[in-house]
Amino acid sequence: MRMYDLIVKKRNGNALSQEEINFMIEGYTNGQIPDYQMSAMMMAIYFQGMDKDETLALTMAMMNSGETLDLSDINGIKVDKHSTGGVGDKTSLALAPMVAACGVPVAKMSGRGLGHTGGTIDKLESFEGFCTSIETKQFKNQVNSIGIAIMGQTANLAPADKKLYALRDVTATVDNMSLIASSIMSKKLAAGADAIVLDVKTGSGAFMKKEEDAFALAKEMVDIGNGAGKNTVGIVTNMDEPLGYAVGNALEVIEAIETLKGNGPKDFTKLCLTLGSYMLVKGKKADTLEEAENMLKYAISSGKALDKLAEFVEAQGGNKEWVYDTSHFKQAEFVEEISSPTDGYVSQIICDEIGICSLILGGGRETKESIIDLSVGLILHKKIGDKVKKGESLATMYGNDKGKMETARGRFLKAYSFSKEQIEKPLLIKGIVGE
Ligand code: URA
Repeated sequence: MRMYDLIVKKRNGNALSQEEINFMIEGYTNGQIPDYQMSAMMMAIYFQGMDKDETLALTMAMMNSGETLDLSDINGIKVDKHSTGGVGDKTSLALAPMVAACGVPVAKMSGRGLGHTGGTIDKLESFEGFCTSIETKQFKNQVNSIGIAIMGQTANLAPADKKLYALRDVTATVDNMSLIASSIMSKKLAAGADAIVLDVKTGSGAFMKKEEDAFALAKEMVDIGNGAGKNTVGIVTNMDEPLGYAVGNALEVIEAIETLKGNGPKDFTKLCLTLGSYMLVKGKKADTLEEAENMLKYAISSGKALDKLAEFVEAQGGNKEWVYDTSHFKQAEFVEEISSPTDGYVSQIICDEIGICSLILGGGRETKESIIDLSVGLILHKKIGDKVKKGESLATMYGNDKGKMETARGRFLKAYSFSKEQIEKPLLIKGIVGE
C-alpha cells in the first residue's frame, strides 16, 4: 500500500477502506508517513468528506494508536459525559458528584482549558492540594470505593489524534465534521466508558456557531459511539451566553458547589438535571428520565451530592472543608463592577468574548505552557432577556492586575448589545440526537 495512492483515491471522491485507514494512521503515528502527505490527505477529506464507515474506521484507528483504558474491573455501568466546550461550562464539577451520589460510577478523564474555553482539570486545581495526575490503579480503586474519580488525560491517549490535530490546526482543516467527530470520539472511546452522554454546544461561545452544524456533529458522534458498541446520546445545548453566571476557575467551582447546595443558577441546574437524567437511565439506575430527575433532585436536597463532592475532593488530596465553606478559595485582590451604558434589555452577548475577558484577566491559557490565575474571572448579573438600567452592574470583575482589568472591561462592554424591546430568554436544550 502507498500513501500516494490513498491521497489520489480520496482526492477523486472515493471511500477509503478500513485497512487503508489503519495503514495511514499507523504510518503517520510512527513517523513513516510525512506531514506533507498527511496534509494533502486532510485537505482531500476536507473537500470530499468521509462516509459513516470511513469516519468510524478513522475513529477506531486513532483510538487504537495508543493506550486505552480498561474499566472492566470497576463495578457497574460506567457512563461518561463529554462537552464540546464553552464559556462558564462547569458542568462536570456538579454533575459528576450528583450522578455518583445516585449510584452511577464516575471514572472520568478530563482536559485543561485552551483559548476562550475552560477545562475541568484546571478548575479542580482551585482546591489547594487537589491532585489530577493520579495512577490508573488508584483511579480505579477510588471509583470502586467512593464511586467517583477524575484524572487528567494520560499522555499516550490517542496519540494519532494529538499529532493530527496539531497538523489540522496549521493546514486549515480543523472544521470538517468527520474530522472533528472522529477526533473527539477517539479520545472518549479510549477512556473506556460503557455509555456516553454528549453535550454538543451551539452558539457564539461554541465551536459550532450554527445550530444545524451542532446537530450534524451530534449525529456524527452518536453514530460513531453506537457503531463502536457504546450506548450514546447527544444533547444539543445553548452557548449563546455563558452557562450560569460565573466565568473563571475558582469562581466556577464555587458556583458548582452552590448548585449542589440547591442555590445554583436556573440554566446550569437544568443542564445538570438533563444530562444527569440520561446518565442515570443509561447507567440503569432509573427506568425513566422523570424518575432519574427526581433522584438527582433528591441527591441535592438531601445533601448527598455535596457530601459526595467533599469525599471526592478529600480522596484526591484536597481539603473537604472548602466544599462546606467556600471562603477558603483564593480571592482576587481587586473587585470592580462593570456598569451598563444604557437602559433596556440585554439582546445579545458575544459569548466567546466573555471567555476571552477571563483569559485576559489571567484565567485562561494563551499557550499550552501558560500558568493560569485561578482566582480571577467574572460574575455576570445580567444575561440575555434581562432588563437593565443605565449604571446598573452587568458583571463583577475579579482581577489581580488593574491594567488587565481595564482591557477586559473594554472587551466585555463591546460583547453586550441592548434593545429597547423585551427579548425572550434563549432556549437551553435545543434537541436530543440518538433517542
Ligand atoms: N476538539 C477535539 O478534540 N478535536 C477537534 O477536532 C475539535 C475539537
